[in-house]
Amino acid sequence: MNVQENIELLPYNTFGIKARAKYFTAIRSIADAQALIASDLFRKEKHIFLGGGSNILLTKDYDGLVVKVELQGKEVVQEDDDTVTLKVGAGENWHAFVMHCVAQDWGGVENLSLIPGTVGAAPMQNIGAYGVEIKKNILTVEGVEIGSGTVTSMSNEACRFGYRESIFKHEAKDKFLISSITLTLTKKNHAFNISYGAIEETLKQMGREKLSVKNISDAVIHIRQSKLPDPARVGNAGSFFKNPSIHADLHDFLKKRYPSLPSFPSTDSLVKIPAAWLIEQCGWKGKTFGAIGVHPLQPLVLVNYGGGEGEKIWQLAMDIQGSVKEKFDIILQPEVNVL
Ligand code: EPU
Repeated sequence: MNVQENIELLPYNTFGIKARAKYFTAIRSIADAQALIASDLFRKEKHIFLGGGSNILLTKDYDGLVVKVELQGKEVVQEDDDTVTLKVGAGENWHAFVMHCVAQDWGGVENLSLIPGTVGAAPMQNIGAYGVEIKKNILTVEGVEIGSGTVTSMSNEACRFGYRESIFKHEAKDKFLISSITLTLTKKNHAFNISYGAIEETLKQMGREKLSVKNISDAVIHIRQSKLPDPARVGNAGSFFKNPSIHADLHDFLKKRYPSLPSFPSTDSLVKIPAAWLIEQCGWKGKTFGAIGVHPLQPLVLVNYGGGEGEKIWQLAMDIQGSVKEKFDIILQPEVNVL
């Protein structure tokens, strides 16, 4: 196990925040993971697992061990005329994996094109975009139990997926290290999802109305590039907050006051409201504060234009949360992991 000390985390977080880790190591195999778990350092120090670093905000130096998960590999574990089942290493880049599937004309993850991060982080927050969540395709999630070092597999049901939620953020947090995911994709009779209006519109604009894995992936990439900042150029971690679900009663009350309030049905008594709308109504869209700010095209995304501090971004997030609470009586919950 190669452990480095006092490591700069700037290259390991897409927010582009400068912060140091007391210890840093990488794991590339199950054996590495087991050796790490059994080590004194791991037992003594607090620790975090890092994938692509695309969903964290570092507000200070990390006084513990940062473990970069780099398990690679894509393996077809089952295939017939209609479907293919793949086991993919947690450290694989998510978008590169999607591009691999698109190139083979395998359907199921095309709506999730261009999401930053790694494969292992995908089940953690049940990544979702443009009408599709990864829970739809996941068969099992494999990993190592941190207490015992045992390699085990969790069924889709056991992962308890919800909107940006899974057991890995709750009961299994710090207890299970995801090493790979196994997912099933379609080889024909693809179940395309173009329920998200902008996909159909974009396909039309691109003159590519025929529904195919490649066309939908390209449309999603086009939409994302047109409104979301590229983390390689502008530091960000995607949506900073989750879209809140509110009670129908509060929705009806707010709708009378704000007739343009957009909403989507959630469950029987709950209604989902776009956090972007709430944040825009509070006047934050496009605002900058020195090196940081609120993205001018998607106010749900907080940005670091270069040299911004994590603590200041967190303060901005809390100010946004406070103003949305005051105006709408809705408490926005961060989607990003704040350290
Ligand atoms: N809106 C505004 N002002 C804006 C932008 C949006 O009022 O400037 C309102 C509009 O009513 C719009 C609605 O927000 O119809 C939804 O906007 P958008 O389609 O951009 O999606 P979102 O709900 O803001 C979610 C995900 C994104 C995902 C998109 C597309 C969450 C927290 N975010 O955003 O995920 O790409 O849908 O499916 O659910 C991410 O998780 O990092 C992420 C980018």
